[in-house]
Amino acid sequence: MTETLPRIDLVSPASFAGGQPHDQFAGLRANEPVHAHPMDATPQRSGGAEKDFFWAITKHADVRAIGRDHQTFSNHLGGIHIEDIPEEGLASVRNMMLFMDPPEHHRYRKLVRDPFAPKGADAYRARIEELAAKIIDALGDRKECDLVEDIAGELPSYVIADLLGIPLDDGRRLYVLTEKMHAAQGTIPDAERGSAAMEMIMYAAQVRADKLANPSDDLASELVHGVVDGEELTPEEFAWFFLLLINAGGDTTRNAVGGGMLALFEHPDERRRLQENIDALLPTAVEEILRWVSPVIYMRRTAKKDAVVHGVEIKAGDKLALYYGAANRDEDVFADASRFDVAREPNDHIAFGAGPHFCLGSNLARIEIAVMLREILTRLPNIEQAGEASWLESNFISGPKHLPVHL
Ligand code: HEM
Repeated sequence: MTETLPRIDLVSPASFAGGQPHDQFAGLRANEPVHAHPMDATPQRSGGAEKDFFWAITKHADVRAIGRDHQTFSNHLGGIHIEDIPEEGLASVRNMMLFMDPPEHHRYRKLVRDPFAPKGADAYRARIEELAAKIIDALGDRKECDLVEDIAGELPSYVIADLLGIPLDDGRRLYVLTEKMHAAQGTIPDAERGSAAMEMIMYAAQVRADKLANPSDDLASELVHGVVDGEELTPEEFAWFFLLLINAGGDTTRNAVGGGMLALFEHPDERRRLQENIDALLPTAVEEILRWVSPVIYMRRTAKKDAVVHGVEIKAGDKLALYYGAANRDEDVFADASRFDVAREPNDHIAFGAGPHFCLGSNLARIEIAVMLREILTRLPNIEQAGEASWLESNFISGPKHLPVHL
């Protein structure tokens, strides 16, 4: 490590408790873009790791190249978190396509193309607008609220519930469970995290039984009869697929909306610019918010064979963390990268990843963020921050946890 590097700890959730550690990331990009990061920075989080370090990857070009190179870098081998999961646990989560490699991954991913493809997502726009309007209506004549809990968090849970064909209120309940499953180790008891996953799996089993008996025109009914290699999904595969869909789109989209509004509060000129010209600027503002907030901090890959990244030798079995938030501030790709600019163009951000696992829900997420922002900025034009935002303590998912606002 060179002396110019600030203290680096990307394992402790505390490093992310005030937003992403952009000083640490900038130091890494400039000095050690492929950095051997010790896992034992906070020993209780090493999760029984066999490898006592991981490679922190912070340059945009490297993050993209590794994400695309599934021949060399695997999701299946070690999962997606820097903390290793015991082999029995891995065997279960490998039912989710996020933990598979091509070609197996492709056979599952193509089961759910329609509502996530650009046309399918767009066809759903009117329904998203209706749900967003309902959320603002529900505020009634309240003078204050928590923008994260009362506004940003509602929409993604409603949208995925609606798509899957389950009651909207159940969507809210499952969202609370997602929160627990994504909570950093040490912030809630492990048993509570495990029981949240169990509860969701049991709920999925009920949905499966219900959709088999009363099929309808929704994603869950379609998935129940999803066929891979000539065979329908097993109950276990269905349950994990269900869990992935619920988990992947909830807190990520919420954090983009919450983090995006916080960025607008902190950059009043940019806010004014957007609010005065919302039709023209909303599309670029959504992309800038995705770049700025980068709600998924990293995804892990495990090397299947020896490789070289940015001149550094990687050994088979090594783990690598692809830091999307760091890549999204890379000066080699973004002019004036630490400026928040609602009209930024081009904006080649990598908040949705790259390669075969590129976010399945990106089209839907973009619509949800745009619709919710428009709803907030046009119906609550004088909304202001009413107190300090508190941040999620997680080394994996980033965004404000609470953001008090005057309406
Ligand atoms: C702002 C919101 C979102 C962000 C920032 C985000 C980000 C990501 C990222 C970084 C990945 C991994 C990409 C990779 O490894 O290369 C991913 C995967 C995924 N996302 Fe999203 N996501 C968002 C919203 C959603 C929504 C709304 C849904 C669905 C309703 C969704 C469903 C998924 C699924 C199913 C995967 C796994 C894809 C696969 O393994 O092939 N995401 N997302």
